[in-house]
Amino acid sequence: MDRLVIRGGKPLVGSVKVSGAKNAALPAMAAVLLTSEELTLENVPSLQDVATIERLLGFMGVESRVAAPGTIGLTSRAVRRFEVPYDLVRTMRASVLVLGPLLARFGKARVSLPGGCAIGPRPINLHLVGLQAMGAEIDLVEGYVVAKASRLSGTRLLFDTITVTGTENLMMAATLAKGTTVLENAACEPEVEDLARLLQKMGARIEGAGTSTITIEGVEDLTGAPHRIIPDRIEAGTFAVAAAITQGDVLIQGCVPQHFDAVMTKLRDAGAGVAEEAGGVRVRMAARPRPVDIATEPFPGFATDMQAQIMVLMAIAEGKSVITETVFENRFMHIPELLRMGADIAVTGRSALVRGVPFLRGAPVMATDLRASASLVLAGLQARGETVVHRIYHLDRGYETLEAKLRSLGGDIYRVEG
Ligand code: EPU
Repeated sequence: MDRLVIRGGKPLVGSVKVSGAKNAALPAMAAVLLTSEELTLENVPSLQDVATIERLLGFMGVESRVAAPGTIGLTSRAVRRFEVPYDLVRTMRASVLVLGPLLARFGKARVSLPGGCAIGPRPINLHLVGLQAMGAEIDLVEGYVVAKASRLSGTRLLFDTITVTGTENLMMAATLAKGTTVLENAACEPEVEDLARLLQKMGARIEGAGTSTITIEGVEDLTGAPHRIIPDRIEAGTFAVAAAITQGDVLIQGCVPQHFDAVMTKLRDAGAGVAEEAGGVRVRMAARPRPVDIATEPFPGFATDMQAQIMVLMAIAEGKSVITETVFENRFMHIPELLRMGADIAVTGRSALVRGVPFLRGAPVMATDLRASASLVLAGLQARGETVVHRIYHLDRGYETLEAKLRSLGGDIYRVEG
């Protein structure tokens, strides 16, 4: 298994370009199942999760072609299988995003029920309750969700909890349903809005995406369309923390500042200089951070996908901060690894009390999930001495050439294969 070797203490300086958003690319790719025509998606990041969904779609009969670097054409003319096997769902939970489109266009789907994962139990009950309310018959057979419907019908749905992929799944299902669907307490994440924009180009009638009430008027069929995936706000936020934690000066190019406002606000509170400039956001820091309390929330709040990274910044702050994770039950797996690097963090329930230390110390550490891995890389960039991050396949799922980008900013980081 590959690992990353990092020698910390170098300020990151320069400019770096953000890739397309993983969490926007995955639902956009699943949307191909809603039409027999080609979807041409630009700015698709080259990531393990993207390869996984391409493999999954290929398994079902979707043809894909590379139209240009970062641009893929997907066509689902002849779907052979309406199934997603356990092995694929196990490696990537976002595989459940095919459920809504399959049911809407073909009236059948058999998708393995995901189990728990490193960040919590992550049930999909709200996806299923929503599809049932739209008229689908759903059974659980041998670990698989088996769903059937003649034609889904529009309905009014109130989500008990805000769910990003749940909103996306039901929004896609509703595009081909009979009548109007209203999703209330829907996720407002930019990725949901991006998916809605793609669906609209395909002929869907959707209003309110990006707010908590989304109205979808079902149509008879959808067409192909070209679409450019939005930049990855979590990658942008990760580079912003990398600049701050190394007391560097980095221009993050191609990002959309409004997509990570909450992160920029907390960085400013911590003492970083954060400025919107032509072409991106510049982040500078020249001193130890000030402590800042943070609680994760659905968008536009502070993203849970940035919690591990900001915690590393707080781990070297001048004082105490409290970081509360409200979205997932178990997203503190990075803490035991950070303790091995000299951080002082105590967990009580869903909150972590972080007592800042002047610097971290390099150590061998183990990545447990995607964002936890990113936090360990950030810790390694700050630490004195050498850090070796093991199990970086998690990182490869969601960050495009992270070490090359960090190296281009002056980071001393390289990959050891095998
Ligand atoms: N939830 C339920 N029932 C459901 C669905 C969700 O109880 O049917 C709960 C979850 O257990 C969790 C909360 O609702 O406590 C929010 O989960 P959500 O459904 O929003 O998460 P998701 O859609 O599975 C997406 C991203 C995650 C990101 C979360 C929260 C994709 C492919 N994944 O997951 O991204 O953390 O939203 O913003 O969009 C990552 O990129 O590292 C990542 C984990």
